[in-house]
Parts: sequence; C-alpha cells; structure tokens
Amino acid sequence: MNIIETIPQMQEVRKTLPEPVGFVPTMGYLHEGHISLVRKAKEENASVIVSIFVNPTQFGHNEDFEKYPRDMEGDIELLEEEGVDAVFAPEADEIYPKDFSSRVEVIGITQKLEGNCRPGHFRGVTTVVNKLFNIVGPDRAYFGQKDAQQAIVINKMVKDLNMNVDVVTCPTIREEDGLAMSSRNVYLKPEDRQSATVLYRSLMLANDLYEQGERNAETIREEMVRLIKTEELARIDYVSVADPLTLDELNEIQGKALVSLAVKIYKTRLIDNVILG
Ligand code: PAJ
Repeated sequence: MNIIETIPQMQEVRKTLPEPVGFVPTMGYLHEGHISLVRKAKEENASVIVSIFVNPTQFGHNEDFEKYPRDMEGDIELLEEEGVDAVFAPEADEIYPKDFSSRVEVIGITQKLEGNCRPGHFRGVTTVVNKLFNIVGPDRAYFGQKDAQQAIVINKMVKDLNMNVDVVTCPTIREEDGLAMSSRNVYLKPEDRQSATVLYRSLMLANDLYEQGERNAETIREEMVRLIKTEELARIDYVSVADPLTLDELNEIQGKALVSLAVKIYKTRLIDNVILG
C-alpha cells in the first residue's frame, strides 16, 4: 500500500493504478462506517484510494479541530488489511499553501440544518472535496448516509459543476444499540453513552409514527423532541423533517422525507438521520 503525503506523488501513483478508481475521502480515526465505504469501493473498482485529512476549513473557530481524534498508525493498519492501494495523507500546508485563495460553494441547501448551525462548514467541505477529486482523479467517490446533508451537497456540487465523478452514498453503520458510528463517539463519557442512543431512538419513533400512518411532519418533530427531552444530558440543535432534495421543512409528508437531527450529549455534538417513505 502506497502512503502518500504530497500532491505530485499522489498524481504520479494515480497514473499507475488500474481503472476504474474508487475514492473514499475521510478525516481518519477510522471505524466500521468508514470501512464499509472502503469495502463498497473495493467491490466496484479495480483500485481504491483513501484520503486521511482533518480539513481545518470545515471546522468553526469554536469547534473541535485541535482535539479531533487522530490515529494515523491504526488507520494505516486497517486500510492495509482491506487491501487499499493508496492512502493520501497530506499535511495542511500541502492542501492549503500560504497563497491559497479559492473557494467552492454550493448555495441554498448549505444554509439549512448543519449549515445553519455551522456557518462556513460546507464551504470547507466542498472546497476540500473538489481539491481531492482534482488531485486523486477518481471514477467513483463514496460517502456515508450518516452525513446526509453532506452527501446531498456533494451530489449537487458534482451535478452543478459537471464533475466527472460518480457519487455513491452508502448506508449508515451503527453500534448494536443503534448509535451511529462516528469518530466523535470517542468523546462520549461512559455516563453520556447511554443518553446518546436517544438520537436513534427518536429516529425509530419517527419511523414508527410514519409506519402507523402519521403524515403530519410537525407531529413527528414534536414527538421526537418530547422523547429527546427525557434525556437530561441532551440539548437539541435541530430536529428536522424535510424534503430530501431541497431540505425545506415539510408540513405534510407526501413522498420521501429526510428526518435528521443534531443533539449535544453533554459536550459532544452528534448527528443522525433516516429516510421515511
Ligand atoms: P469523516 O467524518 O471522516 O467521514 C468520512 C466518510 O465516512 C463520510 O462520507 C461519512 O459520511 C462516512 N461515515 C462516517 N460515519 C459513518 C457511518 N457510521 N456509516 C457510514 N458512513 C459513515 O465526512 C468527512 O469525514 C469529511 O467531511 C470529508 C468528506 C472527508 C471532507 O473533509
């Protein structure tokens, strides 16, 4: 497995890899969620490239960039086991040299949900993913449904800008009790861990209500909020029942609905979602 830190080296190695090339961008501290994307990429492509880059521009000033968990050695070991061809793990100044002055921004859908709570977050994501696509030159790129809005934004960027990449969205991988796997779960103290299952429990409540015929989005939001508030450690950022394409909040569910939420469990901010319909 090639472990690559510079852009020219990555571009050289790319030329030698059998096509099609699948690409999995990550910020490292890999778990089964990431690995599921790698396996899907392996299945569908002749070569697989994984990037590990904790992208500073997608973190707000008061967010966790500095303390974001990192374990390059462990990550490399896992990716080696999966038979990945190349790992691109650049330093920040390789991606953002001093004179870097360009941005890629999808407008509209990035102002809602996560974008509303984390101003500038998606501009950082689309800028770095665009750069990574240009550097790696993948045929297909793999993203997780766990970050539903991110997957929607990336799809929009690729469509709007006619990028020559197929975006594949893969299902959310969960712990046994339903908690969506996330690098940030490591922040959860033992006493937070049980409370953290309330995100999944509220999504299952939404799903149950929907299955029982409930189509009023506000009723579903209210029931979810009521359940989440039974957890003392939980603070809601948002609970949303929205159109999966426009991310506009729904009144009445007619087609599909994206039910998503962001909740702080003590100090750890978690997100999760399901699709209804
Ligand atoms: P990161 O949080 O490391 O996630 C990398 C990819 O793994 C994303 O596509 C994410 O949706 C997916 N993923 C995370 N947890 C998952 C789970 N439990 N099940 C399935 N997929 C999961 O998302 C990022 O990094 C960054 O924003 C990035 C796209 C790399 C740009 O910096």
